[in-house]
Amino acid sequence: MTTTLTVELGERSYPIVIGRGLLGGGFDLSGHVRGKQCLVVSNTTVAPLYLDTLAGTLGGHDVASVSLPDGEVYKTVETFTRVLDALAENGANRDTTVIALGGGVVGDIAGFAAASYMRGVDFIQVPTTLLAQVDSSVGGKTGVNHPRGKNLVGAFYQPRLVLIDTDTLATLADRELHAGLAEVIKHAAICDVEFFGWLEDNMQALLAREPAALAHAIERCCAIKAAVVAEDERESGRRAILNFGHTFGHAIEQHEGYGQWLHGEAVAAGMLMAARLSGLESNQLSRLENLVAAAGLPVAPPAIAPEQWLAVMGMDKKVQQKKLRFVLLRSLGDSYVTSEYDEQRLRVLVGAGD
Ligand SMILES: NC(=O)c1ccc[n+]([C@@H]2O[C@H](COP(=O)([O-])OP(=O)(O)OC[C@H]3O[C@@H](n4cnc5c(N)ncnc54)[C@H](O)[C@@H]3O)[C@@H](O)[C@H]2O)c1
Ligand SMILES: [Zn+2]
Repeated sequence: MTTTLTVELGERSYPIVIGRGLLGGGFDLSGHVRGKQCLVVSNTTVAPLYLDTLAGTLGGHDVASVSLPDGEVYKTVETFTRVLDALAENGANRDTTVIALGGGVVGDIAGFAAASYMRGVDFIQVPTTLLAQVDSSVGGKTGVNHPRGKNLVGAFYQPRLVLIDTDTLATLADRELHAGLAEVIKHAAICDVEFFGWLEDNMQALLAREPAALAHAIERCCAIKAAVVAEDERESGRRAILNFGHTFGHAIEQHEGYGQWLHGEAVAAGMLMAARLSGLESNQLSRLENLVAAAGLPVAPPAIAPEQWLAVMGMDKKVQQKKLRFVLLRSLGDSYVTSEYDEQRLRVLVGAGD
C-alpha cells in the first residue's frame, strides 16, 4: 500500500510518497521530472545497490549520476563542489532535476547543490536510510559541515517530491537503523505521546524490520515533521522543537569528530540530557531512557570535560545573543523552546556542577 502525505507550503507544497517497491516500478518517477535531464547524486555504497533500479524508472530522460565518497566526514564544501562540477560538466540547465539517492548526508549535500546551481534547480529526495526517511528528506534544510560547526553552511530549499521506498531499509546496517530510531523517538517525545506509547509497544517489530511497523513509524514521523515545517518553514519559532536533543547531540558529534558517533546516537544521548535539563518527572524520564535503550542506542554521552562541553556548545549555531537555547519537555509529547533554563542543572549535567 502506498501512502501520500503533503507538506503544505503554498505554491512550494510537495508530496511525500511512502510505500514498498516504489523504486522497482511501483511509482512513475518520470512523471515528476519536468525537464529532459536529471543528475542522480548518490554515494559509493548506495549507488551499486539502487542506482540502476532508480534509473529504470526514469525512462525518457537523460540520466547522469555522480557517486560521492561515503561518510559524514565528506559532508563538506569540497564534496558539494563535486556535485556542482558534475552538473556543469553534464551541461545541466535550469530545467535539470537533481535527485538525491541515499541517506541524510547525500540528501543534504545534493539539496544544497540543487539550491545553488543556477540559483536553484528542481530537487527530488529519494531517502534510503531510516533517518533520512523520517527526518532529513522532509523540510528543506540542506547544507554541509564546516570545521567550526555542523551544518554551518547551507540553505532552506524544499524538494518537489520525497519518494520513500521502505524496501531500501532491508540493506541498511543495524547500527544505522538504530540511529534512525533516535529521530523516530524524537518526533514522539516532542509532539505525540500516543505515538510514544506505540513505539514502546512496537520497538521489537521495528528492530525486526517488520514492514507494517516501519511504514507506520515513517508515516507518523513524516506527518509530524510536515505539520511542524508547514507552520514554521524557516525555523523562526516552533520548528526548533525538531532540534530536541540536538544542542547536546551536535556537541557530542563535534567533540568526538564527525562520524565517530553517528548523528542519531549523539541525538539519543542528547535527548536524555535535554530531558534531565527539563526536569522531566522521573517516571517519564525512565520511559524515555528505556525506549532509547530498547532501540539499541546510547543513553549517556561519552566522557567530555566540562569546559569542553561548554566551549563546544558555545559554538552551536543555535545560540541566540550568546544565550543557549534548548528544547525542553513539559512532559512526553509536549515540548517548547527556551533560553530560560536551570543553569545549575546544566552545569551538573556536563559535570561542572558541585
Ligand atoms: N536536513 C535535515 O533536516 C536533517 C535532519 C536530520 C539529519 N540530517 C543530517 O543527516 C545526516 C545523517 O544521515 P544518515 O543517518 O542517513 O547518514 P548517512 O547518509 O551517512 O547514511 C548512513 C550510512 O548508510 C549507508 N546507506 C544509506 N542507505 C543505505 C541502504 N539503503 N542500504 C545500505 N546502506 C545504506 C550510507 O552510505 C552510509 O554509510 C547528518 O549529516 C545529519 O546532519 C539532516
Ligand atoms: Zn537530527
